Amino acid sequence: MILFFTGTGNSRHVAEKLAELTGDGLLCINEYMRRGEVYEGGDEKLIVVAPTYAWRLPLVVSDWLRKSVISSSTRIWFVMSCGGEIGNAAKYNIQLCDQKSLNYMGSAGVKMPDNYIIMFNSEEHDKAKTMLISAEERIVELAEYINSDKAFDKPRNNIYDRLMSSIVNPAFYRNVKADGYHIEGECISCRKCENVCPLNNVKLVNGQPEWGKNCTHCMACISYCPVGIIEYSKKTRGKEKYTYEKYSTYSNV
Ligand SMILES: Cc1cc2nc3c(=O)[nH]c(=O)nc-3n(C[C@H](O)[C@H](O)[C@H](O)COP(=O)(O)O)c2cc1C
Repeated sequence: MILFFTGTGNSRHVAEKLAELTGDGLLCINEYMRRGEVYEGGDEKLIVVAPTYAWRLPLVVSDWLRKSVISSSTRIWFVMSCGGEIGNAAKYNIQLCDQKSLNYMGSAGVKMPDNYIIMFNSEEHDKAKTMLISAEERIVELAEYINSDKAFDKPRNNIYDRLMSSIVNPAFYRNVKADGYHIEGECISCRKCENVCPLNNVKLVNGQPEWGKNCTHCMACISYCPVGIIEYSKKTRGKEKYTYEKYSTYSNV
């Protein structure tokens, strides 16, 4: 079974492509979270696909997996879409597997365009296209490991990677809040922002979105708004919002 979490579609695409190549079924973690449910399964093998947040699995995903009921000795591969680096995420994935007596089969990054416009700019279209084409090849490579029941090769793990995943990760989360979200322009009350939030943190009040406190900066509300009026403080103004669906069309991938 493939369990995937996504904010802006990259990890959904990776999961769908892996499902095609491995013949495994697909389950969307976002939907489980929205229903307040965990996973209960007796699989022999699991593939977890998720974005990288601050050089590790998103905290909401590792917490959800920790609470899920997974048979001990299940073989589990971690596939992390990322803008560039997964750091030393493997260490924390191994810890999670140890806590749950799962059989760790490795962690691998798939480089895709960066969606985190609160900190960065979205990729130029040409660069995004090159990244999306290379990602396709990388997914095929990873599917071959899974199909041959082989553990992924160990990812890079230098001092910088260890620093980012250990010290910078918790420091990063101190600034992950919904406070900056607001609208600039006419809201059409379509409820897209409400419906794409995996944490049920956006609610329409008097026809306009309001954000609660449970936000993980997945970028779904801001990126999928069909009229593009959601912004985060002044940091996202004027920046193109990224979604896999939009960019893969530009790129003909
Ligand atoms: C909160 C947040 C933190 C991120 N941290 C990292 C990171 O540490 N390393 C990295 O390479 N990309 C990072 N990114 C970029 C995403 O991992 C990347 O764009 C990913 O493919 C998005 O997947 P999705 O479309 O499935 O949500 C971050 C994005 C967000 C929203």
